[in-house]
Amino acid sequence: MRIDILSLFPEMFEGPFSESIVKRAQEKGLAEIYIHDIRTYSTNKHKRVDDAPYGGGAGMVMMIEPIVAAIEDLKSKVHYDAIIFMTPDGEVFNQNIANRFSSFENILLLCGHYKGIDERIRENYITHEMSVGDYVLSGGELAAMIVTDALIRLIPGVLGDETSALSDSFQDGLLSPPVYTRPFNFRGLKVPEILLSGNEKVIVEWKHQQAIERTQKRRPDLLENNKY
Ligand code: ADE
Repeated sequence: MRIDILSLFPEMFEGPFSESIVKRAQEKGLAEIYIHDIRTYSTNKHKRVDDAPYGGGAGMVMMIEPIVAAIEDLKSKVHYDAIIFMTPDGEVFNQNIANRFSSFENILLLCGHYKGIDERIRENYITHEMSVGDYVLSGGELAAMIVTDALIRLIPGVLGDETSALSDSFQDGLLSPPVYTRPFNFRGLKVPEILLSGNEKVIVEWKHQQAIERTQKRRPDLLENNKY
């Protein structure tokens, strides 16, 4: 999978993408991530990328020219399955969408800033609009990192244990059951005996029951809406 990201703040991605699983995925050649600075596509002599909104109002709007120049440049080299604008008024991202997107070959993520981007970009160049939750971030960068991370860990071969993405919370529409490791007894706090029983069938059933109980208690909406 190849993910291109268009941003005004490319340095923001350096830390998160050079650690842990996302780093390993790139090293293994399973994921390619390219960060592009929108400002380099500005033809304005001051490298301007934003301007005041028509009709007045607070805040600045990201201009159409540099963003379209960037999208067109990238599209001339890569065929994108999705051109996604990160925005709080987009569809709320979830595991279901992550699963769907993870089968895509090439994705372009556009990070917004200020009051938003010129609506003509959204209408004519964007195929999907994604929010990472009902709160407003300072820009789309953190949201793009979240989407990138969620997709990359689903690529076969990225996680060491092939089954571990499948047993994630949400993957079967349930939260994950509690997990424990050694020591068995920490200051009197004991691990449930059943996990030491060695009876795999009973343990699997116990974990499933715990997952259901946890979901009922914490996220009953997942069971009611049957989202997954
Ligand atoms: N940009 C600002 N807030 C955002 C959010 N919640 N999701 C996606 N992009 C955003």
